[in-house]
Amino acid sequence: MPDPYRVAVVGCGIGRSHIVEGYKPQPDKFRVVALCDLDQARLDTVADEFGIERRVADFDAVLAMDDVDIVDVCTPPATHKWMVIAALKAGKHVVCEKPLVGSLRDVDEVMAVERGAMGRLMPIFQYRYGDGAQKAKRILDAGLAGRPFVATAETHWKRTAAYYDNPWRGRWETELGGVLMTHAIHIHDLVTYFMGPVENLFARVATLVNDIEVEDCVSSSWRMANGALVTSSATLGAQTEISRLRFCFENVTFESGLSPYSPADEPWSIQPASPEVAARIEAVLSDHRPVGRRFTGQMADFHARLVAGEPAPVTSADARRALELVTAFYDSASSGRDVTLPIAADHPNYASWRPAA
Ligand SMILES: NC(=O)c1ccc[n+]([C@@H]2O[C@H](COP(=O)([O-])OP(=O)(O)OC[C@H]3O[C@@H](n4cnc5c(N)ncnc54)[C@H](O)[C@@H]3O)[C@@H](O)[C@H]2O)c1
Repeated sequence: MPDPYRVAVVGCGIGRSHIVEGYKPQPDKFRVVALCDLDQARLDTVADEFGIERRVADFDAVLAMDDVDIVDVCTPPATHKWMVIAALKAGKHVVCEKPLVGSLRDVDEVMAVERGAMGRLMPIFQYRYGDGAQKAKRILDAGLAGRPFVATAETHWKRTAAYYDNPWRGRWETELGGVLMTHAIHIHDLVTYFMGPVENLFARVATLVNDIEVEDCVSSSWRMANGALVTSSATLGAQTEISRLRFCFENVTFESGLSPYSPADEPWSIQPASPEVAARIEAVLSDHRPVGRRFTGQMADFHARLVAGEPAPVTSADARRALELVTAFYDSASSGRDVTLPIAADHPNYASWRPAA
């Protein structure tokens, strides 16, 4: 077992945050030994900042490095599929930014490769990591919450024209979707993390904020397989940015804070229905051990699972569930109808949800 695991980060945008939060603070677990980016100036800036000597523009050169255990794919969405497949075939463990790929067909292709691979694949969903959300999850997993009633999810962020001054953003071909795909995907992952599978949904999407191809406003109504009803809205036109989640169960109501990019952080409001429930919650949380926030927590969890020989803490099945939800959203928005999940392989949007398809 490598000690620490040796990482190559590919893509120096959010890849820099993976280093700052995920790898650099945990030198006993990870060492970044190589950086890859097509943009030489950006590559040098980030490599200089962290004292990383090995710098390459060619992804194949990363795969050829025998001393790289983990390839961390942080490039634009349309590049993920081929990079992940190539890295798995090269025998590497793979971390990949969201969205893992751009369709259900593509994720099924990746999962087929993964089944025969030596390495593990961990898609990024760092919004799960923070003590507020993890405490709520423990209460749910302990069976204390009772029957689920409703949840609301808000992803109200702000993105201006400057954000879209990047060749891959704002276009179906390269971003693969808009606020639903790129931003609300995290908040929606948290809803299904807490409430399980979606059974049916109705959605509307619109492009109202920026002059882009993809949507930047969304509203939706979901029915979960567990019977709960969920409403979610997302926009990139909020003046005050927030992410907010509220879950009402029979025995407890949970509400996140408003931090847009780390809604899992404490404090979460946990409102028990009675003193008896409060006592049981206190007992369940009495041995809660703090988890790291965002990438710190997700990478630490990945390390623990690799060492234990267990599946990654966030799996390709989780990424698939998020992409299935996206497929249902776009189908409902374009057809004007309710869409029932699961989405089968003969669904017209299985291979692509892009409007041109
Ligand atoms: N988890 C999160 O909170 C979060 C936040 C931001 C972005 N992201 C995701 O991370 C990914 C990257 O987003 P970003 O904001 O860092 O984008 P970015 O455009 O800022 O950076 C991407 C980098 O990848 C490099 N690159 C592109 N193609 C390459 C290739 N073939 N080989 C090597 N390098 C290549 C580019 O030169 C660029 O420096 C996207 O999938 C995005 O959705 C996730």
